Amino acid sequence: MLFKQQALLRQKLFVLGSLAIGSLLYLVARVGSLDRLQPLCPIDGRFGPRGQDEIPLRAMQFKRGLLHEFRKGNATKEQIRLHNLVQQLPKAIIIGVRKGGTRALLEMLNLHPAVVKASQEIHFFDNDENYAKGIEWYRKKMPFSYPHQITIEKSPAYFITEEVPERIYKMNSSIKLLIIVREPTTRAISDYTQVLEGKERKNKTYYKFEKLAIDPNTCEVNTKYKAVRTSIYTKHLERWLKYFPIEQFHIVDGDRLITEPLPELQLVEKFLNLPPRISQYNLYFNATRGFYCLRFNIVFNKCLAGSKGRIHPEVDTSVITKLRKFFHPFNQKFYQITGRTFKWP
Ligand code: A3P
Repeated sequence: MLFKQQALLRQKLFVLGSLAIGSLLYLVARVGSLDRLQPLCPIDGRFGPRGQDEIPLRAMQFKRGLLHEFRKGNATKEQIRLHNLVQQLPKAIIIGVRKGGTRALLEMLNLHPAVVKASQEIHFFDNDENYAKGIEWYRKKMPFSYPHQITIEKSPAYFITEEVPERIYKMNSSIKLLIIVREPTTRAISDYTQVLEGKERKNKTYYKFEKLAIDPNTCEVNTKYKAVRTSIYTKHLERWLKYFPIEQFHIVDGDRLITEPLPELQLVEKFLNLPPRISQYNLYFNATRGFYCLRFNIVFNKCLAGSKGRIHPEVDTSVITKLRKFFHPFNQKFYQITGRTFKWP
């Protein structure tokens, strides 16, 4: 009997020990993969034979290794010099639209080995104080990259700010501009939800969406309400078209990026003249989050922060109908100008 109990105990200890060693090995592999400059690219094999436009393997190492170290301030000047790392002005900017899925788009494009993202919204062109600091200040805000890589930044306020198109044109008249849009009423409610959450966090009260979106005097749509105005995409785009031809814009379907991100990303790769590198492997649906998340390699994956994908408050259906009717003619014009049609009601 005693012997049997001892054997059972030994067995349990063996299982627990194996588990502990396994976890330790996993942690070592994970930390190593994130923090060290090393060839770690299980996904590299997916790329198939190396073509003319192939991104060198070192670019992948850089993206997951040295870049990470540098962000933490660990990379030496020598490493930067050795790897020819530079801080480049963006070749493409996600100019908007707020709550269209701008963060998801940037993070997903960053899966591409030739893309390097500016993590923070820089607000250079829409903020007079920042703009006055000059273009070198802006460049210094960019991440380090290899010369063949392209840097992308996103600041959704650019789309709706009067001065921005001219300022971007002065920096680079041939820059590529990405606009991610969602069905305008849903976008407006998402915009409202973000502001509401901010107010609630500060223990403040706030109006209901219906009260803000509909003018109580006229019972018409309140075009002074910012969340409504931002969703009149064509009005903003027309200002941009005074500086840039439509060919320099690419419209991303933000609703489709939620449900079926890969085809949308492939269209962007094409627009940016990048070889197709983002694959289904890089995107997996996380049922708990209710969204697609990103897989960089066998050990490193991530979902967007919880602030993306908020639950929207319920809105009176008559207000939704009114808003949809209001946006309809603007949407038609938007389809006409951009050549991209959506099934918005
Ligand atoms: P909601 O919070 O209304 O759901 P932005 O980054 O421009 O602020 O956009 C936020 C929106 O991105 C979210 O709006 C969410 O629906 C959308 N989104 C698209 N893809 C997502 C993803 N993979 N994970 C989380 N949110 C995503």
